[in-house]
Amino acid sequence: MRIGVLTGGGDCPGLNAVIRAVVRKGAGTYGHEFVGFRDGWRGPLDGETMPLGIEEVRGILPRGGTILGSSRTNPFRVDGGVEKIKANLADRGVDALIAIGGEDTLGVAAKLHESGVCVVGVPKTIDNDLGSTDYTFGFDTAVNIAMEAIDRLHTTAESHHRTVVVEVMGRHAGWIALQSGLAGGANVILLPETPFDLDRVVAYVQDRFKTRYSPIVVVAEGALPVDRGMVTQTEQLDAFGHARLGGIGTWLAGEIEKRTGKEARAVVLGHIQRGGTPSAFDRVLATRFGLHAIDAAHESAWGMMVALRGTEIVRVPLAEATRELKTVPPERYAEAEVFFG
Ligand code: F6P
Repeated sequence: MRIGVLTGGGDCPGLNAVIRAVVRKGAGTYGHEFVGFRDGWRGPLDGETMPLGIEEVRGILPRGGTILGSSRTNPFRVDGGVEKIKANLADRGVDALIAIGGEDTLGVAAKLHESGVCVVGVPKTIDNDLGSTDYTFGFDTAVNIAMEAIDRLHTTAESHHRTVVVEVMGRHAGWIALQSGLAGGANVILLPETPFDLDRVVAYVQDRFKTRYSPIVVVAEGALPVDRGMVTQTEQLDAFGHARLGGIGTWLAGEIEKRTGKEARAVVLGHIQRGGTPSAFDRVLATRFGLHAIDAAHESAWGMMVALRGTEIVRVPLAEATRELKTVPPERYAEAEVFFG
């Protein structure tokens, strides 16, 4: 078989580890051929490819980003997009695709499968918000980066008796905020799933100032104040109709400073959470996903996504995995609340 591989959406640590595992097992064990499609769904749409053999995947296991490039291209927003993809696959002799991505990239994969394209999905995203899998790769690395940043911010905040508000990514799911905030001993953690009351946040901050510790507030970029809409810096939408999030941290630091009379600073971790080398956990998870994805393709399990359940890798329908976002359940947030204030 000749199999096309693509990586779509926001990049994340571990993408190269998946590509490597797919090619090493696919070529080495099964004798399949591979072609890389550049920049997510733009590659199949524009017919832009790159060679992808064992030579190309040597040495990429620890490298962040993706050797294939990525984009947020949505072929369903392009006139005749599906037909163009089918024609480009046929012209290049590509029998099937392995799509590595989050809800958007895999949502496209699910729809393409319905229109007859042979595709297998691999779940990636630092946000950990994909359904049907316990974890996506990239998440563990992002949480570790955020936790290390919080550890460092504790000491400088304490030296200057300041509040530090740390804004983390995660879009409309609070997983990164929850895990990094818990691991980093945050004063309060604010998630998109539970709109927050500013007075309560200020009370937690004041409480922390009674000790020698300074308040560290971890806020997810999608967190919402109860009496106000989403705080963002731009109205821009991407090709999937998602708003570009970010800005809540700076707004919140300003409000806390006004209400406490004590200096507050915002630190936006941004794309630092997505860059660089994957953690050991993500390297192993991404590698296992890659191995199981090529097994699925070899067995013609089209329309399926590989997923982690406990310690096992299983197959689930793409349509099921992309049906709804996996958000933080209230009981998980309640565990963290014990440490607020
Ligand atoms: O989905 C991953 C993610 O990093 C989100 O956490 C964030 O909201 C978004 O991508 C940022 O995307 P971009 O890099 O396109 O601005």
